[in-house]
Amino acid sequence: MQNDIKKISVSEEEIKKIVTSLGKQIAKDYEGRNPMFIGMLKGAVPFMTDLLKYVLIPCTVDYIKASSYSGTKSGSLVVQGNMPDVKDREVVIIDDILDTGRTLLHFKKTLLDLGAKSVKVCVLLDKPGGRLVDIQADYVGGLVPNEFVVGYGLDYNEKYRNLPFIGVLKEEIYK
Ligand code: IMP
Ligand code: MG
Repeated sequence: MQNDIKKISVSEEEIKKIVTSLGKQIAKDYEGRNPMFIGMLKGAVPFMTDLLKYVLIPCTVDYIKASSYSGTKSGSLVVQGNMPDVKDREVVIIDDILDTGRTLLHFKKTLLDLGAKSVKVCVLLDKPGGRLVDIQADYVGGLVPNEFVVGYGLDYNEKYRNLPFIGVLKEEIYK
């Protein structure tokens, strides 16, 4: 599996540093506010699991699966599974990567419509070059260029999520 990787974008060590500092920052910002963390399945799982080890404050943890569709269904958000009760909650959405921004923009709006008191976004990676809608993350682990990356939750056709680092796939893998 490692042979399919052209270059490492974020090493295991760098991930550990990012996760530690983001987690401590969030713990400080949300102290006494009982935040609700909502992880976006499946990509956010390794990141969220590691991150929350450093968010040592009372909080609740949920996961949902959401996707957005462009084209004919432009703007629609599909959520699989039950939405947690977000009324009056201070929500932090956790995701692996912010690319076009469609999914997180729609999901954030949905949470606010459902009565969340506040909604912030935390992503391990931001790919600003891919953005198609106006959304910024409040917590960002690192920036990546407009390349397709895999590992540490990120997949290509459901593969590579279990790599402990993040890397760029070799071109021949796409062919
Ligand atoms: P978007 O911001 O609505 O385009 O969706 C972001 C989602 O697309 C992420 O949560 C990933 O599941 C997926 N994604 C975007 N860029 C990459 C990438 O480089 N590698 C793997 N998945 C990606
Ligand atoms: Mg995803």
